[in-house]
Amino acid sequence: MRIYTAENYDDMSRKAANILSAQVILKPNCVLGLATGSTPLGIYRQLIEWYNKGDVDFSEARSVNLDEYVGLGPDDDQSYRWFMNENFFRHINIKHTDLPDGLAADPAAECIRYESVIASHGGVDMQLLGLGHNGHIGFNEPGASFETGVHHVKLTEATLKANKRFFPGREQPTSAFTMGIRSIMQARRILLVVSGKDKAEIVRRVFKGAVTSEVPASILQIHNNVTLVGDREALSLL
Ligand code: F6R
Repeated sequence: MRIYTAENYDDMSRKAANILSAQVILKPNCVLGLATGSTPLGIYRQLIEWYNKGDVDFSEARSVNLDEYVGLGPDDDQSYRWFMNENFFRHINIKHTDLPDGLAADPAAECIRYESVIASHGGVDMQLLGLGHNGHIGFNEPGASFETGVHHVKLTEATLKANKRFFPGREQPTSAFTMGIRSIMQARRILLVVSGKDKAEIVRRVFKGAVTSEVPASILQIHNNVTLVGDREALSLL
């Protein structure tokens, strides 16, 4: 595993954006696995800036995202499709972007469809991941099997509670589609980004603790191409 220590969030974002843009420059028709959440926002901002300067071209690249809420469509500002469009895709020249379809009528069929979308692109060249405070990656919460591909997951009480603030006065999604741990581990390269003191303890457990489904990201210890980019605070216990 390669670890890059950044001074702060902006430095982390720039370092991680450098790695993603290197991937696109070296293999213009690559498949990027992307994530939502607060950590990657600075990376997307940086990539947009470099795109505007003409330094990186996404016209041949494809993307697949980790996850999507069941029941939310692209026009819903809490859907991950909306997040990706607003924070990244509509600002660059990427043409092919895939996410699970939150409005799919048949969730089981949607999992099969999304799995085959990823396979038909030849798999993921570089998967960007954020890390949950409990070690989750995608919506793979503690206890998730290491063997699953794309699946439909019921959100835990803790996740529902943490996300409630995003759904004031409206019904909250109770399940999601997510790439499973097996799907994530099949990516040729993993880029994990972490920021802030509140992530330090889970980063330690992920990389210094046992490989266990109780800490889903700990499986990354056995992936052969992981790059961890974090700021000093997040990496302080490694
Ligand atoms: C996002 C995702 C989540 C987040 C994780 C960290 O698509 O699947 O696993 O990566 O919850 O979120 P932030 O970056 O907001 O700390």
